[in-house]
Amino acid sequence: MTRGLRRRLTSYGDQDFSLFLRKAFIKAMGYSDDALDRPIVGISNTYSDYNPCHGNVPQLIEAAKRGVMLAGGMPMVFPTMSIHESFASPTSMFLRNLMAMETEEMVRAQPMDAVILIGGCDKTIPAQVMAAASSEVPAIILPTGPMDTGNHRGERLGACTDCRRLWAQYRADAISGEEIAEINGRLASSVGTCTVMGTASTMAAMVEAMGLTLPMSGSAPATSSERARLAEETGRAAVAMTETGLTTAQVLSTNALRNGLVTLQALGGSTNAVVHLAAIYGRLGMKLDLAEFDRIGRQVPVLVDLKPSGSGYMGEFHAAGGVPRLLSELTDLLDLSAPRAFGGTLGDAIAGLPVRFEEQVIRPRANPISRSGAIAVLSGNLAPRGAVIKHSAADPNLQVHEGRAVVFESVEDMTQRLEDTSLDIAADDVLVLRNAGPKGAPGMPEAGYIPIPRHLARQGVKDMVRISDARMSGTAFGTVVLHITPEAADGGPLAAVRTGDRIRLDVPNRQLELLVDAAELENRMKALPPPPPAPERGYAQLYDRHVTQADDGVDFDFLMASARG
Ligand code: FES
Ligand code: MG
Repeated sequence: MTRGLRRRLTSYGDQDFSLFLRKAFIKAMGYSDDALDRPIVGISNTYSDYNPCHGNVPQLIEAAKRGVMLAGGMPMVFPTMSIHESFASPTSMFLRNLMAMETEEMVRAQPMDAVILIGGCDKTIPAQVMAAASSEVPAIILPTGPMDTGNHRGERLGACTDCRRLWAQYRADAISGEEIAEINGRLASSVGTCTVMGTASTMAAMVEAMGLTLPMSGSAPATSSERARLAEETGRAAVAMTETGLTTAQVLSTNALRNGLVTLQALGGSTNAVVHLAAIYGRLGMKLDLAEFDRIGRQVPVLVDLKPSGSGYMGEFHAAGGVPRLLSELTDLLDLSAPRAFGGTLGDAIAGLPVRFEEQVIRPRANPISRSGAIAVLSGNLAPRGAVIKHSAADPNLQVHEGRAVVFESVEDMTQRLEDTSLDIAADDVLVLRNAGPKGAPGMPEAGYIPIPRHLARQGVKDMVRISDARMSGTAFGTVVLHITPEAADGGPLAAVRTGDRIRLDVPNRQLELLVDAAELENRMKALPPPPPAPERGYAQLYDRHVTQADDGVDFDFLMASARG
């Protein structure tokens, strides 16, 4: 195998001349021949002024470079795009596949013998793992880590479960305009990712359980010296990986992926992880079996007491032993022989754990938060290819519920009508949002957490059954059915629901039914208006033509492994 700067010298017919040119140009950066003849570790730079979740990336790059050099390698930093949840329009999910494509192609295009992918905000680690799964270059993930918590009038705050909870109180007139402005400056008190078990924390913990990042990397705080030391150690590990050559596709065996699913359930993790994992399965030529995921959920207890399912923050999870401690409670449900990208097996991660000292945040098996997992998969005539609900974060009284549908045609329609105090709606109605799926919105926004209508919120209503083809932020909570597949804009029966229909949700029996007979439903489907015209140009057109549904991870069809034959 050719290594270092000799890797992939395909630009010119004369290989020696190609190397001569590469060296001539790169020497302009001040590198010596000695530096250039070493194994090269690429380090992706996802820093951006628009991305506070990646605000510590420059420090992590420095530390990772140091680790690479201490181990005798040559670090090469290169940029890839940076996506923040609040600054990516129309949605960050719309751009995830673009980032996955860009990362894959830049790793492939440039000479590197291993790569460190530094990421944190929700879509970044998914995009990077998708890219790594499709690439033959050994890859290790270095998460940016969770932000610190803040304090408001004696109460701890952390983005962004508290953002939603306190904003809901403000909408219900329980908090003044002055106080909510004060809170605004205290929700995100440092750089780093959201400090609850939202999508970023869930994905970081899952990649640790799947062997793609060093132990404790899934949880060490963004601002801690431990995070910087982990970055240095990641640099050293990456140099060793240039020798072993183990690819991400080799690390992510069926059993490693299953370890990820078990971890997701035990974490009380984000529903978004189901979509991202489905995409990773697709990159490896496999299909995530939602029925199996649901079966795993029935066996695996929720053990992690973090918001939004519980009450703690990521700092406590880390202090309690992080992912290794969690895995040590689940050994009978995991394949501990699964290899890790940087050597050894998953079992090695939990072999040297100190004696348990903390039972609050990571519970022992005998004392779980809930006996079955966080996320259930529903089906029925309204969701022929599935839907999910994070029932660990839902009102127990609404898990079996029948109510009258109140339909919103789009996110805009919902936003306008929910503020209208004359809206005809009661607390036991079912809020239905459609045209918010992968194609419909486009980009499957996190609009599934439909706000409680303002006048009901003022009356103290805290939860209602809400169903949609959208996603929901991993930091949100409530009786919210998501990812209805197929979506309304792709021929799903959700398109045919009318206000006044009856809908029945039965979480224990995993059912979501529209109580309208099949013939009537078929007639309604036939009478639907044609879809709006496709985007005329650019990435939006590529997206519209090739995006798949939630059960295939909302990846592009041509990026899935089967497309490569
Ligand atoms: Fe980046 Fe929450 S906004 S992790
Ligand atoms: Mg999020």
